[in-house]
Formats: sequence, C-alpha cells, structure tokens
Amino acid sequence: MTVEKPATLILTGNLNTGTRTVSKGSGIHINVKDKKTGAERTIIDGMTGAAVGALGWGDSAVIDIITEAAKETVYSYPALFGNDYAQQLAQFYIDNSPPGAFAAALWTGSGSESNENALKITYQYWKEQGKSKKTKFISRKTSYHGYTIGALSIGDSARATYFSDILLKSDQCIKMDECHPYRYKKDDESLEEYKNRLLDDLEKLILAEDPETVASIIVETLPGSSLGTCPPPPGYLPGIRRLCDKYDIIFHLDEVMCGTGRCNNGGLNCWENFLEPGQGPDIQVVGKTLGSGYVTIAGVLVSPKVKQVYTDKNATIMGAQTYHGHGFNCLVALKIQERIKELNLTANMFKMGNYMGELVGQKLLGKSKITGDVRGIGGFWSVEFVKNTDTKEVFDVKLDIGHRIQDVCIDNGLTVMGMQGSFKGTGDHILIAPSFIVTKEDVEKIADIIEKSVLQVEKALIAEGEL
Ligand SMILES: Cc1ncc(COP(=O)(O)O)c(C=O)c1O
Repeated sequence: MTVEKPATLILTGNLNTGTRTVSKGSGIHINVKDKKTGAERTIIDGMTGAAVGALGWGDSAVIDIITEAAKETVYSYPALFGNDYAQQLAQFYIDNSPPGAFAAALWTGSGSESNENALKITYQYWKEQGKSKKTKFISRKTSYHGYTIGALSIGDSARATYFSDILLKSDQCIKMDECHPYRYKKDDESLEEYKNRLLDDLEKLILAEDPETVASIIVETLPGSSLGTCPPPPGYLPGIRRLCDKYDIIFHLDEVMCGTGRCNNGGLNCWENFLEPGQGPDIQVVGKTLGSGYVTIAGVLVSPKVKQVYTDKNATIMGAQTYHGHGFNCLVALKIQERIKELNLTANMFKMGNYMGELVGQKLLGKSKITGDVRGIGGFWSVEFVKNTDTKEVFDVKLDIGHRIQDVCIDNGLTVMGMQGSFKGTGDHILIAPSFIVTKEDVEKIADIIEKSVLQVEKALIAEGEL
C-alpha cells in the first residue's frame, strides 16, 4: 500500500490512520477531535484514559497545586540526592494503608517501569540473602503488567505473544491459571471449590518448579484490561498469601489499574477488600490515579519485611533511573492524594461505581442477547460480551466486538475501553472507570449510553447475520 504522507508524527497507534485527539477537559468531560474531519465534540470520559483520572479534568485546585509545585521544587538526581517530596508521598501511602503494610516506596514514571523495578527489587532481595537461585516469577495466564520487556514477560496476552522471541525465558516466567469464575468455574463446583482447585494447582506448580527457585507470585488484585475486573473469590488472595509464606516466596500485587483509591471505600488499596490488614503483599505496584493524569507518576511499595533485608544487609538498591522520585511529580501527586482524601472521593467512587455497575447489570443482563456478564467493584467495571448467553460462546475474533462497542459508545458520547482476549485469546469486553467525582446523574447517563450502544451493536449484528 502506498502512503503519501504519514497521518501522524507520533509513534502510537496506526501511523496511516492516525488517532482521535483530545484537546481539553472539564470535570468528567473531554473534548475529542475527529481524526478525519477535525470536528470537536464534548463527551463523557467514562474510562478516564486507562483508569487514570480521579479528580476530573481541569480542576482549578490542581492547577494551583501544579503552579506552587513548579515554584517549590527542583530536579534531584536519585543516585546522588533525595528530596523531601518523594519521602512525604511515601509517608502518605504508608499512613493511609493498614498499619505495617508498607515501609518504603520507589516513585517511577509508569506502571510498566514499576513492575520492571519490582522484579529487580525482588531478585536483589533474595540475592542479598544468599538465595540467588530464586529467579522464577509465577504470574497468571491472561494477565497484563505493562509493555516493557520484563513486564510483558510476566504478562500473558496477545500483546506479549507478539514479542515472545525477545522476552525473558519462558522457563523463568511461569504461568499459573487465571482466576475467572464466569469462564472457568465448573457448573457443578461452588465458588469455594473453584478457589480451592486454583490454590491446589498453584501449590502443585510451586512444588513442580522447586520452591527454592521461585522468587515471587504476581497477581493483579482486580485484573482490568486482561480479564475484565473479575473480583477474586473469598479466600483466593489469602490462600496465595499463605502459599507465599509457606514456601518463602514474595507476594507481589499489581494495583496499577485498580488501586490508589479506585476500588476502596475511603482508602487506597484494592486488596483491602479481600485480605486482612496483616495479609498484605510484600511488594505492590501502583500508578494511574496516583497522579490522576496530571503528572506521570507510578510506584513500587515494599513491606517492612522486604525493607528490612536491604537495611540489615546494608545493601544499595541497584538502579537509579533519571526520573525516579521526581520532586515535582511527587509533590503534585501528594497534594492530589490529600485533596482526594479531604473530599472523601474514594468513598464517593465506591458508592457511585457500585450503583453504576448495578444499573448496567439491570439494563443489560437478561435483556441484551450479547451481554454475558457484568462485574467489578467500586470504580472499576466490565461488561463481557458473548454470542450466546447460555453457552457463553465467544464472537469470532475478526468481529472485534469489544472495540466496536467502544467506538459506538464514543460516537454516542462516552469513552469506555474495548478489549479482546479475556478467554484463551478470544472473548470481548469493555471497561468502565470514571473519575472519582461522578454524581448519581453522571453514572445514570453512563449506564444509559452503554445500554444504548450495546443494543445498537446487537441490532447491527442481527442485521449482518452474525447473531
Ligand atoms: C495491571 C497493570 N499493570 C501495569 C500496567 C502498565 O502501566 P503503564 O501503562 O503506566 O506502564 C497497566 C496498564 O494498564 C496495568 O493495567
């Protein structure tokens, strides 16, 4: 195909067709420019990018925060200097998590980079104790941990498969079964029995790999783009915690998408829905809502146990990247988090999000022929689409239903995220993750547009003979 000139100068998406652009935002709305005509429309940002937004767009208090932070901070190179703001942000996270959960943090620029660093922190943790045989990472099938090489290696999706020839060795990146009750719980099995089966299989896997070689077990607390917000069954995460303790393995939770207030009724960590305060992870990665889309910041949090090894061994953390602990980003993120706390927005998100999920379920389940499941917690929900709701048959991959519904939602005035691959490389879902500031009226509008868009696509599929 001959292309006369590139449609875009930016190396993302399809370079020939380009992409829609966002010009401005206000509250829960963004202005989107059509990629062909340039026409601008104001739509509801139901997904806040990739579950990034917490405070809404154009918040005047954040603009003041940013102005002050620009005046107050100066760049510090992390190999030589620290800064008070990185320290204060770590203190905020520690103070607003269950007592004793975390003891130190590394602030990075993205979730992918955080997982990369978490793998290195884990390896060094074992090596400092003379356990350098612990080099295997057990993560889950159908998981996503970011787009860098290490993060893709512990992930499992078409995004990782494409790069498989250049990833970490597969005998080092072991995959356990995903936890997806809608798809994998047998009809004659209770949720409890399904959870026990997964944990038994995981224990067998650890033993087969040799626990002496297993460094960590890595799980998305509430998986998002990968599986579509499947809440872990009661006892599942505590069971993994117990296996980690039994076999001396690091428990690494990825809360980049679901954490930092998105799914916690008044607090920060999603795992507090499923684990007792004393059962928290040894390592946790966070991102997205930490900077609420205003600054590029993510992080790695470690428990007192992990920090202790580094202090006892007098070990220097190997690796200081230029923008780690960036003072400006840390100060802005800290003030944003303080504002979220002051306005009690995570509790608002939890209440409004659960209402939104309930409404979407009421409007679609049993009414739309293509809605198989509606699931989520607080501010993070998914709708899974199927060709047949009785058999759960998936749509032909070529129909790309998740993205099609996403595009219709955008045409109808709402961003959602369309995804494919939640079931053995097939299966379609959309994700919803609005700002924490949403009102009852906002989530009712979101649910209405989702209903309208799903029914519109369903009607078109019938007309096309696909249903
Ligand atoms: C669970 C999870 N981990 C890691 C990442 C990677 O984060 P980033 O895109 O900031 O690199 C994502 C991104 O969506 C994610 O959902």
